[in-house]
Amino acid sequence: MKNQSSVFVTMTTVISLVLGALALSSMTVAAETVLITGSNRGIGLELARVYAERGWNVIATCRTPSQATDLQAIAAKHDNVTIEQLDVTDDEEIAALAKKYEGKPIDVLLNNAAIPGDRDKQKFGSLDYDLYEKVIKVNVHGPLKIAEAFIANVEASDQKKIINISSTQGSLSSTVGNRGNSYFYKSSKSALHMVTRIMSIEMKDRGITVGLVSPGWVDTNFGGMPSMPGMITPQESAQSVVAVIDDYNLDKSGLLLSHKGEVEAW
Ligand SMILES: NC(=O)c1ccc[n+]([C@@H]2O[C@H](COP(=O)([O-])OP(=O)(O)OC[C@H]3O[C@@H](n4cnc5c(N)ncnc54)[C@H](OP(=O)(O)O)[C@@H]3O)[C@@H](O)[C@H]2O)c1
Repeated sequence: MKNQSSVFVTMTTVISLVLGALALSSMTVAAETVLITGSNRGIGLELARVYAERGWNVIATCRTPSQATDLQAIAAKHDNVTIEQLDVTDDEEIAALAKKYEGKPIDVLLNNAAIPGDRDKQKFGSLDYDLYEKVIKVNVHGPLKIAEAFIANVEASDQKKIINISSTQGSLSSTVGNRGNSYFYKSSKSALHMVTRIMSIEMKDRGITVGLVSPGWVDTNFGGMPSMPGMITPQESAQSVVAVIDDYNLDKSGLLLSHKGEVEAW
């Protein structure tokens, strides 16, 4: 009798240990995943930090991981952060990374990397068309190619979101879009808007939300812009952008939302 009860206690203990382990492993599996481009500095770095601190699996990509010291510091503090090399203009690198993550759900695919291009080379009469190709390659071709490469990962996830960081500079009817200058940057963001809109329409039936977020006027020295009154910090921007992404859903798919979640002019 004593033997029987001790066998029963042992079995109960084993079962509860197994159930506990299963619960723990399903918790690990259940953590959401975000892939961010250009996460070594600026807004991308702070987006990586925000997601890392809330316990998401962060695939933090950048062109030169060995020099990404700030990102390395985040990864050293959070073992849910994996740094991956990715130049968004390198189709082979994109394909190789997609192969590496084949079968792994990605809840939020976050295309953040972009370049403004030297403004002096964007003046009518002396436009530098080699630079134009480069700006389009980073700001439009990159996000589209990355969306194509990782679409199965996004579709396999719970949240199913592709978010492209853009700018009201690319909007025909916004105040900043209606000032002269920056032919390349502005037209690249306009193109990104249309690319996003088309994807949002085509992906809706698959339950995938595709949206644009404008991160605000952020003190990152983007395009050599010095710190100015009215700018927000990259940390403030990232916190707000993540909240907007949290609220993004299929009904909002295809919109350009500000970092405050307001619908921006197209
Ligand atoms: N700052 C603003 O006020 C503002 C306003 C509106 C929209 N935005 C948008 O916000 C996003 C982030 O801008 P930010 O202000 O954080 O700029 P940033 O500080 O200049 O950061 C740009 C990031 O893009 C990366 N990048 C550039 N070319 C790349 C490539 N070929 N492959 C991979 N990564 C590349 C950079 O990496 P490297 O270090 O390797 O160059 C860097 O990590 C951009 O989409 C930008 O258009 C910014």
